[in-house]
Amino acid sequence: MKLIKLIANLGYGSRKQVAAMFRAGMVTDAHGEVLYADDQVPHEDIRIDGEPLDPPAGLLLMLHKPVGYTCSTKDAGRIVYDLLPPRFRLRSPVLSTVGRLDRDTSGLLLLTDDGALLHRIVSPKTHLPKVYEATLAQDLRGDEAQLFASGTLMLESEKEPLAPAHLEAVEPRFVRLTLTEGRYHQVRRMFAAVGNHVLSLHRSRIGGMPLNGLPAGQWRILDDGDRSRLFAAP
Ligand code: URA
Repeated sequence: MKLIKLIANLGYGSRKQVAAMFRAGMVTDAHGEVLYADDQVPHEDIRIDGEPLDPPAGLLLMLHKPVGYTCSTKDAGRIVYDLLPPRFRLRSPVLSTVGRLDRDTSGLLLLTDDGALLHRIVSPKTHLPKVYEATLAQDLRGDEAQLFASGTLMLESEKEPLAPAHLEAVEPRFVRLTLTEGRYHQVRRMFAAVGNHVLSLHRSRIGGMPLNGLPAGQWRILDDGDRSRLFAAP
């Protein structure tokens, strides 16, 4: 791919703007040599204003989503993309969230521009466990774990029962719930179905990838090792 297209696709600007960056000598190699739009240079050797070029297409990153941010790009309020470099929103292929977390849910959110990878992570066929920690308004009544594990729980306005889910009662009002699918507001609706209410909800793990102390609002790029970890059993 031509350098000009590569850099424009990474969200640095339109082709016209990137052409102007070349003319201004802002695009160099690792030794500070000015590059031209038709040069062939390995991605890792390209610098923009002395800074390494953003990662190429095939990007996967994890974000610790704080409460109060939505995953939609159309929301007028705070959105998860506000926590990333503004350029990332302009990338082509588009950087999408892997599934969604509600505005009031915090925790591990993945984003990728790789459609096949996204599909593999969210597909119920992959059985990738997603672990949620929930604080409940009322004590568990005692039969929830069995019901959630049964594979028979039918949520309102759904046509298929939920896949079996694992509930661990850490305290009477604090639970860890492991799901292998991601239906709309699933955790909140599961507890509503048993007469309870989720006061706070946090996703702590997807597959073999824990949030692992990443502070709220922070993100990091996942490398090949992280990807294998993601798909490995926790
Ligand atoms: N279940 C919910 O209810 N909300 C989320 O954000 C994720 C799972």
